[in-house]
Amino acid sequence: MNTASCRSSVTFIDGDRGILRYRGYPIETVAEHCSFLEVAYLLLFGNLPNETELTKWVADITQHTMLHETTKKFMEGFRYNAHPMAMLISTVAALSTVYPEAREIHDPKNRLHQIVRLIAKIPSIAAMAYRHSLGFPYVYPDNELGYAENFMNMLWKMVEPKYVANPVLARALDILFILHADHEQNCSANTMRCVGSAHTDPFLTTAAAAAALAGPLHGGANAEVLKMLEEIGSKDNVPAYIKKIKDGHSKLMGFGHRVYKNYDPRAKIIKRTAEQVFEVTGRNSKLDVALELERIALDDEHFIKRKLYPNVDFYSGIIYQAMGFRPEMFTALFAIPRTVGWLAQWQEMITDPEQKIARPRQVWTGQEVREFVPLTKRVVLATTR
Ligand code: CMC
Repeated sequence: MNTASCRSSVTFIDGDRGILRYRGYPIETVAEHCSFLEVAYLLLFGNLPNETELTKWVADITQHTMLHETTKKFMEGFRYNAHPMAMLISTVAALSTVYPEAREIHDPKNRLHQIVRLIAKIPSIAAMAYRHSLGFPYVYPDNELGYAENFMNMLWKMVEPKYVANPVLARALDILFILHADHEQNCSANTMRCVGSAHTDPFLTTAAAAAALAGPLHGGANAEVLKMLEEIGSKDNVPAYIKKIKDGHSKLMGFGHRVYKNYDPRAKIIKRTAEQVFEVTGRNSKLDVALELERIALDDEHFIKRKLYPNVDFYSGIIYQAMGFRPEMFTALFAIPRTVGWLAQWQEMITDPEQKIARPRQVWTGQEVREFVPLTKRVVLATTR
């Protein structure tokens, strides 16, 4: 908490002023003007692509969306009710068995190849995890569709010959992907750097980062917010719920952040995007509970004093639910775009001549050297078991 773990030029956050920039561009600007794959290029290569570069980049990603049939078989082996995030983490790790050459992490061409594979395949894995949990057959990618549209196709196509995504929902998903793409040295990015610093291959390293994301204090918070809003039920119950939080019974999920001590700029954009989504899907009744929760919390001394504001997860789940996702899927939706951020951080770390294997020190709180006692002479200590 009191030192920098690396030098980085990928993502900048000023938590006190609520500022987030990707490679110098304000999040508001890229969310308004760019596509997700354009932002992915920016994060990975440092600059926005020109038209030729973007066309090639999109074509490269599109070409690698298919999963190897052995990966498909691997996923079919999961129990019918396996959590999508657990399936995603295990399958990303299993890609290491399909692409053993990924171990050559110091070869820039090879590295880029694995980066493209990961960005291309992660929506396919997430979609397959989703369909597996519903018992539906896997839908192969459609290379004529954009990144978000193709993901929607793999999730929701049934018997129609060609899936046509609603353009408002596809753009909303693309914006959500942009907002979740990277976030400086958060818990999962830090895991990516830590595991990657041992020169582990990028598939295993990304699986480790995704495991960090799965926790309810990190990317798992979006699903927890939905559970919380369901538990509250209606606007009238909000004051009683806030009292329970202040009494220390639990945390207000989707509130608070280690770095933001001001409104999370991503939450503002998500709130606006939600309105556009609801025009298509109809209003999610949980929005009223969320707005009331936010209104009361932002006016309450307890939350003001601790600088607790809504974070990215507060409103994203409400949109995902309106789009038809079950809460178990929310964190996998976060993992898809964050894969880009993890890989940008990983690439920066691998190519940083100053970087060494992650090896923090500790403050020792144990005993000094002790005298060995043979097994038969040991007494039962009050502290044991
Ligand atoms: N609800 C109620 N009180 C809170 C909350 C909350 N959500 N977050 C922090 N506090 C209180 C905390 O109890 C402490 O109070 P006190 O000083 O009286 O002990 C004070 O605020 C400082 O909190 P902290 O736990 O020291 O803060 P942290 O920087 O260690 O934790 C956090 C950051 C995000 C883990 C935490 O705010 C939290 O658990 N929030 C809920 C989970 C959540 O929404 N996570 C998503 C984070 S954003 C997206 C992402 O990273 O994936």
